[in-house]
Amino acid sequence: MKILVTGGAGYIGSHTCVELLKENYDVVVLDNFSNSCEESLNRVQKITDKKLSFYKADLLDPPSIDHVFEDHKIDAVIHFAGLKAVGESVSIPLKYYHNNLTGTFNLLSAMDKYTVKNLVFSSSATVYGDPASFPITEKFPLSATNPYGRSKLVIEEVLQDLYKSDKDWNIALLRYFNPVGAHESGEIGEDPQGLPNNLMPYISQVAVGLLPRLKVFGKDYNTPDGTGVRDYIHVTDLALGHIQTLPKLLSNPGVVIYNLGTGNGFSVLEMIKGLEKASGQKISYQITDRRPGDIAACFADATKAKKELGWEATKSLDDMCKDTWNWQKKNPQGYRKPAGEQ
Ligand code: NAD
Ligand code: UD1
Repeated sequence: MKILVTGGAGYIGSHTCVELLKENYDVVVLDNFSNSCEESLNRVQKITDKKLSFYKADLLDPPSIDHVFEDHKIDAVIHFAGLKAVGESVSIPLKYYHNNLTGTFNLLSAMDKYTVKNLVFSSSATVYGDPASFPITEKFPLSATNPYGRSKLVIEEVLQDLYKSDKDWNIALLRYFNPVGAHESGEIGEDPQGLPNNLMPYISQVAVGLLPRLKVFGKDYNTPDGTGVRDYIHVTDLALGHIQTLPKLLSNPGVVIYNLGTGNGFSVLEMIKGLEKASGQKISYQITDRRPGDIAACFADATKAKKELGWEATKSLDDMCKDTWNWQKKNPQGYRKPAGEQ
């Protein structure tokens, strides 16, 4: 079976490519490297000792998508490619809508043209907005609070419409909670450009000495220790969720929706403690005001994925922290080589 992975050089995409290759899928990656680099794919091949096909191409350029479908008989597409920084999406919404929506429309048109109608789409728990209760099931009401979230919500709706118009499509909407961690080898991991927006990369850059201290955004939430609670999920567990989704897609289910989370919530202070334990480093932090737009807590009911896909997250908070640290320590500058090793 041949799988096209858009955004396959990125954080979640590269970990998914590893698991696909391990399961003997043929893998074709399309990525424009706007938020990644080719080195991640070299390392995917190093970890697995297998080859993948790779195209440096932009989803905003339809002929380059055609080129991939002409070269390969694709069975299913896993669509990770997109821009994902919430704050940036508020300042430059048109760029986000153009990249995420137009890019997806171009991909769908090519899939339609080449009669490839099996798709796994990277959605996000952000489509639940500010949920009224927890844990969050797939039936909760949906809303968007920023252009990034709205781009996910709109794509989910477009995909539902597409299926209504043509029942040959099989589409899985996977709503990720908070992916963290790295491959256990420490070869691939999250490599944010510039100052990290998300908690775990920020903490690990403090631990390795790249940043002086973490700002903890608020300690007055209605949570056990007053800091924000999230459902952190190891990126390898998340990658395996995609592998488990592929056989389901091939059973012609139409549109299916799954939360990919652990079902457990951890606070910011618990994550700091976890990384201190894994790294043996003291993490300096200061409590600041809440970050605008943040919610107090967010965690999944992931029982539907367990029941229907036979998938559940198995890695612990200790695993997430240990692997985050291993990656950060081995690659303090991410995929960029330290000076002198070019
Ligand atoms: P990432 O930025 O590491 O990976 C996305 C990849 O897509 C990058 O390699 C980038 O170069 C590529 N890309 C972007 N626009 C492209 C275009 N027009 N054409 C070709 N390639 C393009 O992000 P990630 O964390 O791996 O996230 C993958 C997907 O999962 C995204 O759609 C994201 O919105 C979604 N998601 C991520 C998280 C998270 O916390 N990481 C949570 C929920 C959902
Ligand atoms: C963010 C996005 C969300 C996206 C999710 C996964 C925002 C507002 N939301 O969610 O849309 O789906 O990532 O990619 O960006 N924190 C700190 N200090 C920091 C960074 C974070 O205290 O420097 C806290 C936050 O307040 C939050 C928790 O850590 O309580 C997790 O934050 P983060 O990693 O940014 O993820 P989310 O806010 O869940």
